Amino acid sequence: MKTTLCRIAGTPLTKVVDFGRQPLGNGFLEPHQFSGEYFFPMEVGFSEDSMMFQLIEQPDPEKMFHDHYAFYSSTSNYMARHFKEFADQVLRSGYLVKDDPFIVELGCNDGIMLKNFASQNLRHLGIEPSLNVAREANKHGVRTCSEFFTEQLAESIVAEHGQADAFLAANVMCHIPDISGVVRGIKKLLKPTGVVMFEDPYLGEVVAKTSYDQIYDEHVFLFSALSIRYLFALHEMELIDVQPQTTHGGSMRYVLAHRGAYPVGDSVVRLVAGEQEQGLDRLATFESFRVSVEESRTKLVSLLRDLKARGKKVAGYGATSKSTTILNYCGIGPDLIAYISDTTPIKQGKCTPGMHIPVVPYQTFKEDPPDYAVLFAWNHAEEIMAKERDFMAAGGKWIVHVPEVRVL
Ligand code: SAH
Ligand code: TMP
Repeated sequence: MKTTLCRIAGTPLTKVVDFGRQPLGNGFLEPHQFSGEYFFPMEVGFSEDSMMFQLIEQPDPEKMFHDHYAFYSSTSNYMARHFKEFADQVLRSGYLVKDDPFIVELGCNDGIMLKNFASQNLRHLGIEPSLNVAREANKHGVRTCSEFFTEQLAESIVAEHGQADAFLAANVMCHIPDISGVVRGIKKLLKPTGVVMFEDPYLGEVVAKTSYDQIYDEHVFLFSALSIRYLFALHEMELIDVQPQTTHGGSMRYVLAHRGAYPVGDSVVRLVAGEQEQGLDRLATFESFRVSVEESRTKLVSLLRDLKARGKKVAGYGATSKSTTILNYCGIGPDLIAYISDTTPIKQGKCTPGMHIPVVPYQTFKEDPPDYAVLFAWNHAEEIMAKERDFMAAGGKWIVHVPEVRVL
């Protein structure tokens, strides 16, 4: 689905970065599938009207989310702890009615967050169109509905279960091109006193760290408080709180409610002022971002070529969907990176989208460690560094590309 107009404001978009031909970020594949591999032109646009940073073209959702979706949330223990804390915050927040609250989560994946409500016998529903991960959630006692969330689905949920006290989402709102339809659905689904709490990778961090790998097919938007406030205001809803998160390399949790239901917190006023100072409302900021992205590519490629010339063995750590953007944008293939180790069984034995680097089980990294490992899962750096002390003790080095390309 291609648009030349802002998906929120309906006015023309300005192209800011061109990442060239890209495959699906999670489209891990076997050699017999190479010839039919899907690619799309990945360009990013910005609208000074809505202040929304967005993909100009996005593959159809059914191509990305299906019954063999490769991303299982619970592969990270750190994220499991993070979502337990998120659930605890919702439970403590005072926003839930005491008597039989109803919690809805969009994109609940394998139940990583909702299982914390299910275990307390609280009424809940996870909306999860990718059947394989939804089934995993069911195993944890999480009730799911395997459909894409739309205004119509919101109406049928209300008819069956009543309105919700809390509408939660993590790393999914930014995936949905018809975000206005989602907000219309939320507006209907939410009780007058209900709240929306969702988090996504934060545009301010992406710009500050040149973490351009947050841009891939699934992430049709990168949000800021400015763009979220604008979007929800069109539907008489208000941003009442914002809470920065360290997850996924720097995310933002947004709390929203029906207009006038709760006071707007100082956190919103402060963040909006900071974003204006950072220039997240202006095209010029994204033109400098493009220059930083190009510089990052030049540095990474020359570092890898230099290591190859010196006969060093380089592997990747974490076959993240983010790495698909880096590999394809920089043209890095198996000649520069021998393999990528990943703990997710569904990715192992396959090749990375587009550049076709073999994805191997973690065991290979342990048994046949490289001299240098590119930390594609840099957002999990803390957890990984703690786990890989042996690699470093044996002289292994990390390559990271954020906030700048360097060897650790
Ligand atoms: N919340 C989890 C999963 C994020 S991945 C976490 O933070 O780890 C995004 C998930 O959203 C995928 O499981 C995908 O299947 C689901 N998804 C994508 N589009 C959706 C839509 N329109 N409605 C509901 N879920 C959707
Ligand atoms: P994410 O960045 O989208 O969360 O994906 C992280 C990927 O990295 C996922 O495929 C699992 C993998 N991974 C490892 O291989 N080892 C690890 O220790 C961690 C935390 C993740």
